[in-house]
Amino acid sequence: MTNSKREIPFSQACENNKNPILAVFKELNISGDVLEIGHGTGQHALHFASNLDVTWQPADVKENNWMISQRELPSNILPALELEVQPHKTIKEQLGSKKYDFIFSANTLHIMSEEFAFKLCEEIHEACHSGTYLLFYGPFKFNGQFTSESNKRFDLHLKSQRPTMGIRNFEDLRDKLSQHFEHLSTIDMPANNNILVFKKL
Ligand SMILES: C[S@@+](CC[C@H](N)C(=O)[O-])C[C@H]1O[C@@H](n2cnc3c(N)ncnc32)[C@H](O)[C@@H]1O
Repeated sequence: MTNSKREIPFSQACENNKNPILAVFKELNISGDVLEIGHGTGQHALHFASNLDVTWQPADVKENNWMISQRELPSNILPALELEVQPHKTIKEQLGSKKYDFIFSANTLHIMSEEFAFKLCEEIHEACHSGTYLLFYGPFKFNGQFTSESNKRFDLHLKSQRPTMGIRNFEDLRDKLSQHFEHLSTIDMPANNNILVFKKL
C-alpha cells in the first residue's frame, strides 16, 4: 500500500491577492472566530491565520477538502468542515449553530450557480451574531455593468466552461442579504476585484 500524497495545486492569484486582502482585514481589526467558505487550496487560510489573532475555520465542498487537510497547519487553523451550498441541505444543517465573528469567501460566488449564491446570502446569517462581518472577495458587476473588459471576458469564459457560472451583480447580492446585513463598503482591489463588506444587524 502506498502512502503518497497528491500534489496540492498552486494558485498564483492567491499569492498576488493575499497581502492586499490581509491589509483590509487589518484595517477592519479582524480577530476571533473566522469561517472561510470555499477555501480551495488553503493558501489564503495559511497566510491569514499566520498573520492575524484568529481561529480560522475553513469549509469547502467535500471533494476539495483534501488540499488543506494535506498541509502542515498552525494550531489556529481548525480541521476543514464540509460545506456545500446546495438545494437539499441548509447551511445551518451543515455547519451547526456556531456563530462566527467574521466570515470570508473569495472567488466562490461566480463559481457556484446564481441560485446557490443567493441561497448562501439568504442563509449565512444563521452562522452570525449581531456585529459579524461578512466579506466577499472577487470580481463583481455593479448595476449590471462589468468593471472592466477583462472581467467581461472572464464572465464569457466561465459561462463557456459551465453555463451556471458567472460574475454576480452586487445589488442582487445586497438585496438577498438586506434582511440581516447592512452593506458597509465596497473596496476596490487590484486586478479589477472588489471586497464587499457587510455587517450583521
Ligand atoms: C475558484 S475557487 C476559489 C478558492 C479560494 N477561495 C481562492 O480564492 O483561491 C472556488 C471555490 O468555491 C468552492 N465552491 C464551489 N461551489 C461551491 C458550493 N456550492 N458550496 C461551497 N463551496 C463551493 C469550490 O470548491 C472552490 O474551493
